[in-house]
This record gives sequence, C-alpha cells and structure tokens, in this order.
Amino acid sequence: MDARRYEVGMVGLGVMGRNLLLNMADHGVPVAGYDKDPAQVASLRREAEGRAVAAATTVEEFTATLAPPRAVLLLVPAGPPVDAVIGALLPHLAPGDLLVDAGNSWFKDTDLRAHALGGRRIGFLGMGVSGGEQGARHGPSLMPGGSPDAYARIRTVVEAVAARVDGEPCATYLGPGSAGHYVKMVHNGIEYGLMQAIAESYDLMRRGLGLSDDELCEVYDGWNRSELACYLIEISARIFVQVDPRTGKRLVDVILDEAKQKGTGMWTSQNAMELGTPVPTIDAAVTARALSGLEPERVEASRALAGPRPAGLGERAETLASLRNALYAAMIITFAQGMALLRRASDVYGYRLPLGEVAAIWRGGCIIRAALLEKVRGAYRARPDLPNLLVDPALAREVMMRQQDLRTIVSRGAGVGIPVPALAASLAYFDGYRSAWLPANLIQAQRDFFGAHTYERADAPGVFHTEWSHG
Ligand code: 6PG
Repeated sequence: MDARRYEVGMVGLGVMGRNLLLNMADHGVPVAGYDKDPAQVASLRREAEGRAVAAATTVEEFTATLAPPRAVLLLVPAGPPVDAVIGALLPHLAPGDLLVDAGNSWFKDTDLRAHALGGRRIGFLGMGVSGGEQGARHGPSLMPGGSPDAYARIRTVVEAVAARVDGEPCATYLGPGSAGHYVKMVHNGIEYGLMQAIAESYDLMRRGLGLSDDELCEVYDGWNRSELACYLIEISARIFVQVDPRTGKRLVDVILDEAKQKGTGMWTSQNAMELGTPVPTIDAAVTARALSGLEPERVEASRALAGPRPAGLGERAETLASLRNALYAAMIITFAQGMALLRRASDVYGYRLPLGEVAAIWRGGCIIRAALLEKVRGAYRARPDLPNLLVDPALAREVMMRQQDLRTIVSRGAGVGIPVPALAASLAYFDGYRSAWLPANLIQAQRDFFGAHTYERADAPGVFHTEWSHG
C-alpha cells in the first residue's frame, strides 16, 4: 500500500461507508478505507479490486496511506462510536487534517466535536448523507455544514459523488457548525411525516376500500406518475408486488405491523418543541410509530374496545380521487412544517440556511425526493424570507384546491375508525395556521385565574392580572 497517496479516507466500511467509498473510486478519487472489523476490510478488498482503493486493517496503516493534509470521512453509527473513532484517529492526525462525520449525528454533538477538534487545529464537518445503500453507491444527497474553508477542501469530491438533477449536484454548503446535520435531522423528520401519511393512505385503501395488493400497486404507481411523484410513493408501489419466497404470499402482508426507529424523527420533534415551532405531522408520525410498537397491548385492546367497522369508506373511484388530493395536500403541509423549522433553527443557531438550496439538493438522491421540491425551491427563489410555504401563492393554491378532499378523508377516516393521525395533524396545522383568531385567550385567562401568570390584552399594550371571581 503506497504511503501518502490516497486523497480521501473512509472510516466505517459498513453498507453506507463501503458504497460511498466505491462511489468516490468510480469518480477517480484515490480512496483508502478502514474498519476495525477485519471482515469489512476483506469485503472492501474484494469489491474494490482493480481500482485505486486501499483497505487498511489498522489505524496506523490507514492514516499513513493518506496524502497530507488528510481528509477523512467517518461513516459509523451516531453517538459514542463517533467519539471512539475520533479518539482512535487523533494520535495519528496533524494540524490541518480534516474529519467529516457523515453519519446521522445529533447536531449538538457535532458542535461540541467541532469545538474540541478546532482546539487542536483539526477541521471538522458534519455532513448529512441520504439515500440509503443505492444512494451512497450511485449518488446520494449530501448536506455538508461546518467551516467554509474546510468545505472548500472536499467540495469537488462531494459534488462529484452526489446525485444530479438537471446537471446540478444534490450537494451544497449549508452553513457553519452543525448546519448540515441539522438539515439532515429535519430531512428525516419530514421522511417520518411522509411515510406515515402514505401508510395512512394504505390503511384507508386496504381496510376502508378493500383494495388488494395488486390494486394498491396500481394506485401508487399511478400517483407516482402525477404531481405526487416521489421516491417513497414509488417504492410503496413496488413493495405491494414483492413476493415472500418463504410463503409465496406478498411480503408486505407477512411483515409485523411494528415500526422501528433509530431516533432522528424523535429528535426533530423534540427540537421543534424546544424552539417553539409546530411540526404536528412529524410529531404524529413519531407517536404513530410508538403506538405501533405496543402490539400485544393493541391486540388485547382490539377485543375490549368496540368501535365502527373499519370499512365502507365510500364509493371507490370518488374516494380514491379524494385520497390522492388529501395526500398531496398533506405532503405539502409536511414540507411546510419542516421548512418552517429550518427557518427558525437558522435564526436561533445562526446557520443562515439557504432554504431554496436545501429544497434543490433534496430533489435527487435522498429519501424525501419529490417532484414537489421544484415548487418548494421556486417558492424560496421568489421570496427568500418566506415565513412558511403555505403562504407562497402557488403552493397555497395547491393546498386550497385540495383542502376539501383532506377534510373529507380525515372525517371519513374518523367515521369508520381508521386512524389518520398524520393527515388529521396536517389539516389541523393548516386550519390553525390560517386562523387569525385562536382560542388561546381562554388559556391565558385560565393561567391567570389559577396561577396569577398574567395575560396580555388585545385592546391595550402591557401585562395584566385580574383577581378573578371564584364565587
Ligand atoms: C436516509 C435515511 C436514513 C435513516 C434511516 C432510517 O436519509 O437515507 O433517513 O438516514 O437512518 O433510513 O431511520 P429510522 O430508523 O429512524 O426510521
């Protein structure tokens, strides 16, 4: 293995790391990989045969192969493994070297790590990577953040390996500190919201209309050829026709109805709460995953708690047409919540996020890629300081045209007892956001009544307290 020859290093040769490394090699980047698991190093050696790829079994060997100043990507599970890898690399790094954490790290950890490494004059970038295995191999969406100088060092490589839409790379510098990891976290929050809304449409079609898996495939396939076109609907169509080799049944029908989660959706909700920014569709999606996890309790409760039979949602063609509109409206509203959270975080954390560019780099490679993102980008191009996508004239029109269908679907779901938490939360957000008046005056009054917490008046400035009559 030639010393000091390789331009980029990759630590973590699991599915994502290995595929991203091979993607770099395809683009002519001499790259060295390292993993503490020798089996992973061996599979890289096999897969990368004949290319300018080094596979190292020790940190010493790995760091010695890299051309100084070194640039090392980390693709290891978020949390303690990232610190463990940094700790193992540090004795072999020199001032001027650069580490790029390409995992789904908690953004506040990214700020701490950047600060600690900055003290040793080691550069640090937090870069969100989306697109799963296929994306990493053939073109992911990349969301880098950190110091602009550090980004300048790896920009060419990042842009070369990213997905492309209309010739533009799905990667751009997003802002200082943890901006990249924050944007990736919100990407995942939106991912949760969209997945839940699509799952609710499936439930309404399966139990409410009695559609078969073949019919579901056909419906999603049709929707994917419309304004709803997006990766998650595209893969849903494919999922319904996949056969389980063990049983010969459709695989989806033998998969347990309990959704797992690694936590990025929950982080989005938690941080949105902290920033006082509503993301109710994402909250509903996180909660729905938690409820799905209570399987044994749900089975017991299903015997104890009677309700309407979840069927007879309506006339098939008409209901499907409404559902399609309802889902599209909910998709726009989900993006509106996520983008509003990014806007708020940009102010609070000083990221100065280019929201139109965020929408642009999500158009390809990532899990939430959707035709709709072109309109989202257009909305920020027309008005960079747009407070919410719902007040962009074009998107507002799209939602308003479909709001009656969203109302119909949510109320019919409630009528037959099919839970539609993400669709309902999207509708409530839309209605709350467009309400010039909300009943929060009563909440102010109650707080002042029981706790003398004071209130403000609509007709005069200042802070008031009343000795409420308890009689
Ligand atoms: C991506 C995905 C990915 C995510 C998972 C699953 O953008 O490629 O968002 O980063 O980790 O696919 O996340 P959950 O386990 O939280 O569903």
